[in-house]
Amino acid sequence: MATLTNASRVCLRGITRQSAAAPVRALATSATRQDSSATAYTYGTAFKGGDKGNQVPDFSKYMSDKSVSSNKLMGYFMVGGMGAISAAGAKSTVEEFLKNMSASADVLAMAKVEVDLNAIPEGKNVIIKWRGKPIFIRHRTESEIAEANKVNIASLRDPQSDDDRVKKPEWLVMLGVCTHLGCVPIGEAGDFGGWFCPCHGSHYDISGRIRKGPAPLNLEIPEYDFPEEGKLVVG
Ligand code: FES
Repeated sequence: MATLTNASRVCLRGITRQSAAAPVRALATSATRQDSSATAYTYGTAFKGGDKGNQVPDFSKYMSDKSVSSNKLMGYFMVGGMGAISAAGAKSTVEEFLKNMSASADVLAMAKVEVDLNAIPEGKNVIIKWRGKPIFIRHRTESEIAEANKVNIASLRDPQSDDDRVKKPEWLVMLGVCTHLGCVPIGEAGDFGGWFCPCHGSHYDISGRIRKGPAPLNLEIPEYDFPEEGKLVVG
């Protein structure tokens, strides 16, 4: 056992000596190479092979073998094609957006109201609902039309002739909302035979013009038309 231990010690010593000798040889080699290469190279970077990063790679094998004009044509074609595709996509997007934003058919239908005028006798009022608001339709008599026209316009608070407020003298179409604070006036009432707003006492005449009370303006005239005889379309 003692013999084996001694043999181990001898072996370890040998290895230790060899390990110690190696750095000495490496240092000697390094010193020699530094000395021999000092005149051959200059280093621009501290990293090994760092100067190779400044070299431009050789792309010649990727270059087209066609002429320059042919390559340009291809480039123009690609750019033009992409531009056309992009424009078509943008147009489609805008169209879809506008389609979504525009009113649907049922909303458009509510925007207009059609009225059969044959159902309204002369001298009578009818109230219809349009866009959530009342619309007064009055089938005026000859005497009411004459009365509306004989008023001195200069004396009115909101000067307006009867002709300016109707498309056909026998049909008066107005928004039934008092111009004072928005109440709905009562028909065939008031001091002027037209409409009376009981909220604060505004009197409108047979043309819907303000004649007395706090309301500042005549009753508003909405958009309307007579597309055919006996038919009224409001809106
Ligand atoms: S709201 Fe009609 S008079 Fe005031």
